[in-house]
Amino acid sequence: MNFVVTIDGPSAAGKSTTARALAERLGVRVLDTGAFYRALGLRVLRLGIPMSSVAGIIEASRNATIEVTGSPSRGHVLLDGEDVSEAIRTPEVSEAASRVAAVSEVRRLLVRWQRAMAEAGPLVGEGRDLGTVVFPDADVKIFLDADLETRARRRHDELAARGIAARLDAVREDLARRDERDRTRADSPLRPAEGAAIVDTSGMDMEAQVRAVLDVIRAHPRCPAPAAPVSPGQRGPAGH
Ligand code: DC
Repeated sequence: MNFVVTIDGPSAAGKSTTARALAERLGVRVLDTGAFYRALGLRVLRLGIPMSSVAGIIEASRNATIEVTGSPSRGHVLLDGEDVSEAIRTPEVSEAASRVAAVSEVRRLLVRWQRAMAEAGPLVGEGRDLGTVVFPDADVKIFLDADLETRARRRHDELAARGIAARLDAVREDLARRDERDRTRADSPLRPAEGAAIVDTSGMDMEAQVRAVLDVIRAHPRCPAPAAPVSPGQRGPAGH
């Protein structure tokens, strides 16, 4: 298997930003698995399927086409050919994603797609069940955590930067409810994988967070060396 790093953890722990920074520094691709659940959540919402209809959710998921395009570290998500990268980041879609993610058939479908992506090359995958279910043999497993207050502030600021106004207490409640659902569902609940390095980022800024995770990854013997810039006149490692 290609070199795989998994980053799991609750909402707004900083997984996506950390994964993108790691991908840039290590020269590997990012697999944002939450984006897949979000795209299916958006499809279910748009079709007007009630979240109580498991059969409807399964049907909507089976008929979906999801593609990821763009740079290795910043993908665009296409749902049935439409770029939904922004549309999947609203609070309504966060809620819908958490609901569809509790349906086992949906998870099985997405896990197949996620594993297929690891065949294309080394990657950093982030989500809730990557170290426990999707890539149990991953080289490095990280569990990123932060206290609820820190995570609520981060999500609130992130939404504000996107022009979405939300009250901090409402954001905090939403996070707590979705995390509870993600942690207690029967299939692939959110929990640290065995052997995962647990990194609590509550007091850290983003640079400190990325450095803490990079230290864990670089300690691994199979960690890919970052692509070194070759200056004029310099010879490559094979002497070419
Ligand atoms: O990471 P995120 O907030 O984009 O994830 C959206 C939802 O999808 C979240 O409620 C948890 C769920 N999810 C999951 O169950 N398993 C994953 N591997 C990734 C996300």
